[in-house]
Amino acid sequence: MPKPNANRRQLLGAVILLPFAPLAQALMPTPSGAQGPFYPTASMRFDDVDNDLVKIEGSVREAGGEIVRVTGQLVDTEGEPLAGASVEIWQCDATGRYLHTADRQASERDPGFQGFGRDVTDAQGRFSFRTIKPVPYPGRTPHIHLKVIDQGFELLTTQLYLKDHPENTKDFLFQRMSRSQQQQVSMQFNGSVEPLAEVRLVVSG
Ligand SMILES: [Fe+2]
Repeated sequence: MPKPNANRRQLLGAVILLPFAPLAQALMPTPSGAQGPFYPTASMRFDDVDNDLVKIEGSVREAGGEIVRVTGQLVDTEGEPLAGASVEIWQCDATGRYLHTADRQASERDPGFQGFGRDVTDAQGRFSFRTIKPVPYPGRTPHIHLKVIDQGFELLTTQLYLKDHPENTKDFLFQRMSRSQQQQVSMQFNGSVEPLAEVRLVVSG
């Protein structure tokens, strides 16, 4: 025979544990960031808009700059992967010039850099890019622009930064975010050959 208070103890345990179950925290959405003036419209892009920005189809040379890979997963606030969404990135080349007719910087545009690329998330919400490590240009810390489009709807426009880059502390857009938001959009590259950064993008359902 169990002691008379054994059931009562079990019950108390259940009562204590229960409140924790529904508290599964929704994920914080990735903070949005300014689109900026240099989003390349369709007519400004190369015919090649794939996820390898370092190699333009038909071009003999690769882009200048440090070649890196950026991979990640697109999920909703419950952590469920979003498949079949377009993830677009665009950024300036190694000399600081964008693939955009309004960028009037004096430096020559790098003819080997695609400037804009796109990937479509797989069944696990995963995407990947090969590109160059972003460089600073006047007034901005290094960043990669990113946009998520699903069935014609823009789910997210933001910018990805280099974790702990010294220019971050002077960047008005980076400084506008809370510390945790800054972490959500900061990339840390690991590895010596084509260093890799992993990012998680969270969008509200
Ligand atoms: Fe920019």
